[in-house]
Amino acid sequence: MPKLIVANWKLNPVKAEEAVSLAGAIQTDSIAKVVLCPPIAFTGIVKFSHLGAQDCSAQISGPYTGQISAAELASLGISYCIVGHSERRTLGETDLEVRSKITALLEYKITPVVCVGYGVPDASQGLDVATAVAEQLSASLGTNDPSRVVVAYEPVWAIGTGHSATVEHIAQVASVVKKRFSVSAFLYGGSVNSGNAGSFLSANGVDGLLVGGASLDAVEFNKIINIGSQL
Ligand code: PGA
Repeated sequence: MPKLIVANWKLNPVKAEEAVSLAGAIQTDSIAKVVLCPPIAFTGIVKFSHLGAQDCSAQISGPYTGQISAAELASLGISYCIVGHSERRTLGETDLEVRSKITALLEYKITPVVCVGYGVPDASQGLDVATAVAEQLSASLGTNDPSRVVVAYEPVWAIGTGHSATVEHIAQVASVVKKRFSVSAFLYGGSVNSGNAGSFLSANGVDGLLVGGASLDAVEFNKIINIGSQL
């Protein structure tokens, strides 16, 4: 299975022309499968083979000012959607809300990229992080079919901090999650760059990466894509 590399641009860049030019500088002929998740406002103008959103509503239509539904994402040709990112969970998003979003996305044949790792213990405390991550995934999935979702393990202390998790730790979490759930892919995310991408992608059970900051630099991101294409 080709490696899956998902770019989470978060709230960047701020200008439409910058988003178009960033997407245009990212290589398109890679063996690794690449999904760009630009800010939703730019999704209609950014051209790329696989586009994703960074969040969606649990509702499909109706009086929900400011929300964007899975149905609307599907009509834009979006095939992936990040849900349960720690930057949303920190605003109060619950496992139950994540679960409803997954259900809505699957109804519209969009692959949810379900983030787990928020609020679970730090590995350095010697606690069973892998079991806590699997519990969070279970609560987020509910009765949704795990084989239709991608899971992204993002230890919250590793996001945007420059302190990534160790390869051994990631492999252990991947093993526990995959034993319990037949997820379609297991990604790692948190301070990924071109210097550490190879070791994460070579870890047992890791099928790809969720990349934040490094995906905003086309040269750096293309290096990560190339590394993913060689594995
Ligand atoms: P980072 O972000 O790569 O900048 O740590 C990852 C993410 O939040 O998805």
